[in-house]
Amino acid sequence: MAVLVTGGAGYIGSHTVIQLLNSGEEVIIVDDLSNSSIKVLDRIEELSCKKPKFYKVNILNEEKFEEIFKENKIESIIHFAGFKAVGESVEKPLAYYTNNLISTLIILNIMKKYQINNFVFSSSATVYGDPKSCPILENFPLSTTNPYGTTKLMIENMLKDICNADKKLNVAILRYFNPVGAHESGRIGEEPNGIPNNLMPYITKVAIGKLEILSIFGNDYPTHDGTGVRDYIHVEDLANGHLKALDKIRTNSGLVIYNLGTGKGYSVLDMVKAFSKACGKNIPYKIVKRRAGDIAMCYADSSKARKELGWEAKYDLDRMCEDSWRWQKNNPNGYEN
Ligand code: UD1
Repeated sequence: MAVLVTGGAGYIGSHTVIQLLNSGEEVIIVDDLSNSSIKVLDRIEELSCKKPKFYKVNILNEEKFEEIFKENKIESIIHFAGFKAVGESVEKPLAYYTNNLISTLIILNIMKKYQINNFVFSSSATVYGDPKSCPILENFPLSTTNPYGTTKLMIENMLKDICNADKKLNVAILRYFNPVGAHESGRIGEEPNGIPNNLMPYITKVAIGKLEILSIFGNDYPTHDGTGVRDYIHVEDLANGHLKALDKIRTNSGLVIYNLGTGKGYSVLDMVKAFSKACGKNIPYKIVKRRAGDIAMCYADSSKARKELGWEAKYDLDRMCEDSWRWQKNNPNGYEN
């Protein structure tokens, strides 16, 4: 019986696949490679000494996607695949709603048809909108500020209704804070298309000399140094959260929701400083105006995951920066040589 991982060639997906393989799971990857490289698969094999089955399929191609279920015995699904760029979602909301919502509905309908009951969904701290206070608990009010976030919240709401009606379903919604870092080998890591929107990949590109200078979006927020504060979490810790969540839903019916963060908030300037230390170079930066839609502060209370999953983030900020840098330094062009 296999675990099907959609988006398994992506950043968080690939790290999770390796941990699943290392823990003895049979893994099947489905990825259309629209935002990932085929070369990830060789590196997964290199790092785990196992070769998971791979299907290059877009989930929206329902017929082809269903073939996978005819050919394999699938017990659980971890669903990473989806569009994830906030700015792009504002430009192309229809594409975001179509891709993220329809693909999830296709999966849920196929799960019903093939009697698959275990589902882990990648959600995001973005569903908390601008939180009333920090640290953020899972029962805080939910709202969104962009179509990407709205797709996450809509899927969460669908999952709640579907689980209410079907008591056989076991679903874990994982709300990620800000994933950074890379596999300790430096062989897999984050490789966004084009100019990065997120802070860490932008900093690593400045450090390697591909981008000139980091723009810091505002230094007048009500935070300790005026720059935005976030809860950065090592991708290996995040990946491990999926294994723990899978363990949980295999023995627990119904829907569970967990924050996956470290509970610590670091500012943009804290990140610049920590990364400079890790790479041994100055990161040039300039302060520019705030980015529309940004919030001052966002960090998690992850005590629910600690109590109920026995999960806790292990890696500190220095380690996150060291691993991000090793990946970038060893792969200045990402997966393309
Ligand atoms: C962003 C998304 C969030 C999504 C997450 C996925 C927005 C508004 N939010 O979160 O919905 O779930 O990515 O990873 O885009 N910063 C700079 N300069 C940069 C880039 C970022 O100063 O070039 C600052 C931002 O203002 C923020 C912090 O760095 O204070 C982190 O930004 P980012 O990495 O983009 O993550 P979020 O905005 O938290």
